Amino acid sequence: MLHSHPGCFLSATYYVKVPEDMKGGEIYFRDPRGPAVAMYETPGIDLPWVGSGLGVPFSPAAGHLLLFPSWLEHRVERFEGTGERISIAFNASNP
Ligand SMILES: [Fe+2]
Repeated sequence: MLHSHPGCFLSATYYVKVPEDMKGGEIYFRDPRGPAVAMYETPGIDLPWVGSGLGVPFSPAAGHLLLFPSWLEHRVERFEGTGERISIAFNASNP
């Protein structure tokens, strides 16, 4: 489900193990700022992460550390490959 992490500054996922033949398991990002960001859109430049679209996928590999602002909406597709996909997700905040 598309979500963000309110109350945090940075969110992250470290991918410990990702099968080579992974099916699904991509993380999708979508910018929730909608039209505010699109105001900067320049003709000829696509901003697929803006608005009500499904977002932009990222296919992880073992060893990737993904850092993103906690307000950035994201979701993860169901993993259906063989083997194990192990990831560690964490948040950072400024107390
Ligand atoms: Fe999350």
